[in-house]
Amino acid sequence: MPAKRDLLSMLDVREDLVGLLEFATNLKNRTKAGEPYEPLRGRSLAMIFEKASTRTRVSFEVGMTQLGGHALFLSPDDLQIGRGETIADTARVLSRYVDGIVYRAFKNENVRELAKHATVPVINGLDDREHPCQIITDLFTIQEHKGALPGKRLAYVGDGNNVCNSLLLGCAIAGMHVSAGVPKGYEPDASLLAAAKRIGKETGAEIAVVHDPFDAVERTDVVYTDVWVSMGMEKEREERERTFLPFQVNGKLVKAAGKDAIVMHCLPAHRGLEITDDVIDGPQSVVFDQAENRLHAQKAILARFLAGV
Ligand code: CP
Ligand code: NVA
Repeated sequence: MPAKRDLLSMLDVREDLVGLLEFATNLKNRTKAGEPYEPLRGRSLAMIFEKASTRTRVSFEVGMTQLGGHALFLSPDDLQIGRGETIADTARVLSRYVDGIVYRAFKNENVRELAKHATVPVINGLDDREHPCQIITDLFTIQEHKGALPGKRLAYVGDGNNVCNSLLLGCAIAGMHVSAGVPKGYEPDASLLAAAKRIGKETGAEIAVVHDPFDAVERTDVVYTDVWVSMGMEKEREERERTFLPFQVNGKLVKAAGKDAIVMHCLPAHRGLEITDDVIDGPQSVVFDQAENRLHAQKAILARFLAGV
């Protein structure tokens, strides 16, 4: 049997990102044409969510159904994990029943622990360090709206969080330039930034962190933002909302980016904070196409990681 393959970080799709995006396009076309495609008939996916989710949960669950399989939503409050069973034992047991596990966790080390002990593929559904499924979707969406990725420019504006970390890696792998405009003290993870810069040297991508949002969006193709207060950081809300206000994606910032730039947000959005209504609902926003694409990208990930398609 071939070794199982996990998707814990954007680095895990470094070798086949282009193929995965092509596959997502193909699956989206099939879905739109009403053509059934069921490579996961009879397979099951366990989904453990320690944090809230709308898009990740629903797109994986519906994606499994559309691929002919079945998904089980498991809350840690209901699992024995909530009463002290170890992550390692949970991984061993679930591996005897299901064909893959999606895990949304507070800590990256817990996702790695689950993957270490599971004999089936583990997919990171977001942790404190990365959100790879989101960024695979985002690159797919950028390709749809702006064409071939190498040489394109993305400006990330806001918190140097999990989404920002994975974007740096994903864009570097795809050969896209990134300028992350973040307040001082809220920079992306140093080791992932260094990895993105190393990869960028090979792919021709320039990866930069700046502290002025207007510098970040200069000549960009994509303006991207995310929440200022990620799940698990609620205690810092007041201070963050004060600090991040100059980094709001509003009409003035989008005008500085230019009329051809598209605007993206992984959602959920806090309207009036990191993004204003006129921008998210405006003509440059592709935010809801981006949300739809979670379904198509997730299906590509599931078919590839669970069945090796
Ligand atoms: N973007 C994203 O992961 O959304 P959810 O938290 O709703 O899954
Ligand atoms: N950075 C956000 C992303 C939500 C999809 C968080 O971790 O809460």
